[in-house]
Amino acid sequence: MAKTGIEADGERKQVTVLFADVKGSMDLAEQHDPEEWRSIMQGFFSILADEVRRFEGTVDKFTGDGIMAVFGAPVAHEDHARRACYAALRMLDEIAEYAAELRRKHGLNFSARIGINSGEVIAGAIGEGGEGEYTAIGHTVGLAQRMEALAEPGKAYLTEQAAEAARGFLELEDLGEFEIKGASRPVRVFELVGVGTARSRLDLSRERGFSRFVGRAGEITVLTEALARAKAGEGAAVGIVAEPGVGKSRLCHEFAERCRNDGIEVFEAQAQSHGQGIPFMPVLQMLRAYFGIADADPERIVREKIAGRALLLDPDLVDDLPLLFDFLGVPDPDRPLPQLSAEARQRALRGVVCKLVHAPNRRDPTAIVVEDLHWVDQGSEALLGELLDAVEGTQTLVIVNFRPEYEPTWTGPPDYHEIELAPLGLADSGELIRDLAGEDPSLDGLAEHLHERTAGNPFFIEEIVRELVEAGHLEGERGAYKLVRPVEEAGVPVSVQAVLAARIDRLDPDAKRLLQAASVAGKEVPEPALVLISGLGEREECEAALRELIEGGFLYEEELYPERLLAFRHPLTREVAYGSQLSEQRRAIHAAAARATIELNPDRHDELAALIADHLEEGGETLEAARWSARAAYWAGHSQPRDAMRLWRKTMTLAAELEEGEEKDALAVSARLRQLDYAWRLGMEPEEEARLIAEADEIATRSGDLRSLTMLRTLAGGRPGRVRKGEEWIATTEEVNRLATESGDHHLQVAIRAAIAYAHLCIADFDGVERLCDEVLEMAGDDHAAGAGIILGCPVAWALMEKGVASRERGELDKTERLLESALRIATEQGDPETASWTRGNLAMLQGTRGEVKAAVAMARRNQELTERLGDVFSRSLSLTHVAVASLAAGEHAAALDALEEAERLYRGAMGSGGEVASWRAGLRAEALLELGRTQEALDVAEWAAAEARENGMLWPLPRVLKTLAAARVANGREGAHEALDEAAEVAERTGALLTLREVEEEQTSLAAGTR
Ligand SMILES: Nc1ncnc2c1ncn2[C@@H]1O[C@H](COP(=O)(O)OP(=O)(O)OP(=O)(O)O)[C@@H](O)[C@H]1O
Ligand SMILES: [Mg+2]
Repeated sequence: MAKTGIEADGERKQVTVLFADVKGSMDLAEQHDPEEWRSIMQGFFSILADEVRRFEGTVDKFTGDGIMAVFGAPVAHEDHARRACYAALRMLDEIAEYAAELRRKHGLNFSARIGINSGEVIAGAIGEGGEGEYTAIGHTVGLAQRMEALAEPGKAYLTEQAAEAARGFLELEDLGEFEIKGASRPVRVFELVGVGTARSRLDLSRERGFSRFVGRAGEITVLTEALARAKAGEGAAVGIVAEPGVGKSRLCHEFAERCRNDGIEVFEAQAQSHGQGIPFMPVLQMLRAYFGIADADPERIVREKIAGRALLLDPDLVDDLPLLFDFLGVPDPDRPLPQLSAEARQRALRGVVCKLVHAPNRRDPTAIVVEDLHWVDQGSEALLGELLDAVEGTQTLVIVNFRPEYEPTWTGPPDYHEIELAPLGLADSGELIRDLAGEDPSLDGLAEHLHERTAGNPFFIEEIVRELVEAGHLEGERGAYKLVRPVEEAGVPVSVQAVLAARIDRLDPDAKRLLQAASVAGKEVPEPALVLISGLGEREECEAALRELIEGGFLYEEELYPERLLAFRHPLTREVAYGSQLSEQRRAIHAAAARATIELNPDRHDELAALIADHLEEGGETLEAARWSARAAYWAGHSQPRDAMRLWRKTMTLAAELEEGEEKDALAVSARLRQLDYAWRLGMEPEEEARLIAEADEIATRSGDLRSLTMLRTLAGGRPGRVRKGEEWIATTEEVNRLATESGDHHLQVAIRAAIAYAHLCIADFDGVERLCDEVLEMAGDDHAAGAGIILGCPVAWALMEKGVASRERGELDKTERLLESALRIATEQGDPETASWTRGNLAMLQGTRGEVKAAVAMARRNQELTERLGDVFSRSLSLTHVAVASLAAGEHAAALDALEEAERLYRGAMGSGGEVASWRAGLRAEALLELGRTQEALDVAEWAAAEARENGMLWPLPRVLKTLAAARVANGREGAHEALDEAAEVAERTGALLTLREVEEEQTSLAAGTR
């Protein structure tokens, strides 16, 4: 296979490291002839190495007077810590015997000590030019060695990490905390005392307190029916298949409990992950359970138990007793077993088991549960096969479980059913999570998050909840936690990592590499890209590897057309595959993923720009990343303002890392200007805004970038939401208009004129609006895209709309309609959803003015729904205000009030102030309140609105506000209604707001006539 840039030279792995050495070897060596000493050490080494291999560890190196061994690398084992501890226990036993022999033979005081630690290491070939030996390095290794140095002769010491991983399976004694050189915190140290009580992970769960058993009703029914057939003397067998942690053992346990409650005897046995080297473990376990043998029973009692039960069942078994005694480790000195070949002995044993199942005196139904057949040894498997064949026609139910990688060599009885146990559904996961974590409101959404992340695997759910507690995300007690830190930051628990890494390491190397590449590419990746990224040049190799991943349930085909899209079945698998790679390797794959995405999607660069930028960033190609990020931000544009804001922020961060130069400045300035441009749409903290302004000013001034300076003045001095005083706003617009003209940039001039027309509208300078908009339209000519994207999506459409608004104020309604309709058409054509939204809102207002109130409300509501999707605050708040105007026209006052309150909340929440149209919204609110009979509130609000508009010179809403104020004064029996109307008429007349003037005059007449 051709070596590509992403060849794995090492991996991050969770392992357990074991150091063993001879205590005081220098002194001992000195006392002996070197040759003799060498042979003593040889004996010692082979004991150590044998035990390491027995538990499938790797001897990393011989250290001169001992060894370093690693469990869990190169191939991950989910129980690496247990394996290391079992190996250590056996080493200590064997060495004690060896030492006794040395003492006898050589008078030598020989003793060894062992240190064990678990954690992450980098494992791989280390050495010059990557040619070196496979080894593990990292702090984890150093700490294991320190444990060895600390250990007393003849003892094995563990760090707390190793102890945590082995807890329950091993008996440990807490020795307290020790200051260890090279460790920043004191380390809690444990002594390895012996084997613990737990045999499986489920035993640990039981010790911790089982979580509530959820779901599985269907499976329990299948098992209950099988039991019924067994009771009827037909014999039955059920196999349960599922990936680790899905709940095979728990289901068996729950069913076994039901059987026991029913008075049915249940015998349980299980294969062990490190047990393949120790034949017949599960069979022994099963027979010991069957004969009721306890660990502490003396041999004689054991023999009595065996003989007693066997002969009661079938007197013919008397001839088989020596075999049973021998197999169960209690040979009877008076009745030795005749010499038999291993094969003959096993055959005989299988015969005995069949006899037990078929025993004539067996009357009660029995259930036998054999777990974890994926670890079963050959001998036990053969015996189980015969047992399964033998159950037909008996009252026996056999339940076995195993993981999908196991391929049974037996076929089972005719009545054999297999249950493919599925992960929990969302409802059951939710119930489990509620049981574990509780129902505090802070936990809202946790169930969905964890369900998605774990894909419903209950073991993963339990472990992640535990991890969340340990890492301080959850506070409180089991079943009653509060979430105090976001869960998204939580890592993968090491227990879960170990299970998943072990699955990944069982893959063929090509498949593993493909999986790693896929994990870097994303949650989902198109096949052609994956092929390119993985560097697995050969099509066939790649196809085979992919098939393995799909069949193994790592990836699935999310789509087949137009191209195969592969997705991770479990998010956690992706996290683990990603986390196992060295950052250098990940970087290379990210860069390759970016290149592949560019190459394979020539027509979709805009759409994929954000993804490409992410990969380039992770791939360390900062300049390219910044360029693509800017491109993605432009593309997000005003349709996805939040994405655009995020992408500009990212562009800014990337630009900061670039080398000095024109492109850096250009990116740095535009990233800031664009963020400022989104600030009036989305809101921004004042300090952040001030910082961006200062930085952009500095860069643009230094590089003499007049265009950017013009934009900056527009956005900094007089953007919506920021200004308070009309006069000041107009002064800034004049300055920026001059700057734009000076810049000579045609598009900029168009855009700036359009943008500043808004200020003139707000102060009710309708002539100014018209003049600026006409200039925009004239300068743009037929080019509807002139100035597009500079502040406004489509300045031409916007200018038509603003002209329309001015016309409406002047009472020229037909002209308004024509203008707004062309504005909407052009905004839509030019892909400017914002101007389209604002225009629809104005159309609704126009319809309201014309008395087409139903149409007005429908238009405003539809617009509000469309605008909601934009996700920007300015437009959403405005669209709600338009809903209110239309609702008021239609007499729907409560709806109007709701819309206004929402508009106000939204705007103030994001912007920290009410903005330039605060008095408009307040005036409308006063109208609604008045109509709803809340006259006092109406009066207060109207007074405020009038003062606000007057004081800031935002004259556009003022006449209508004053008209409402007059009505509110009347309604409250106050003086001053006439004065308010006079002022309204004066302002309307002065500003040319003829539409409102007419309404005000009507009011004046009716007030004078005393009809109000
Ligand atoms: N239906 C369930 N309701 C509640 N908890 C469950 C359920 N199923 C499994 N669990 C819990 O999830 C954890 C893992 O389950 P279990 O040990 O049965 O998995 P398994 O499939 O046997 O895995 P392995 O292949 O590793 O043996 C246990 O703590 C168990 O109590
Ligand atoms: Mg299990």
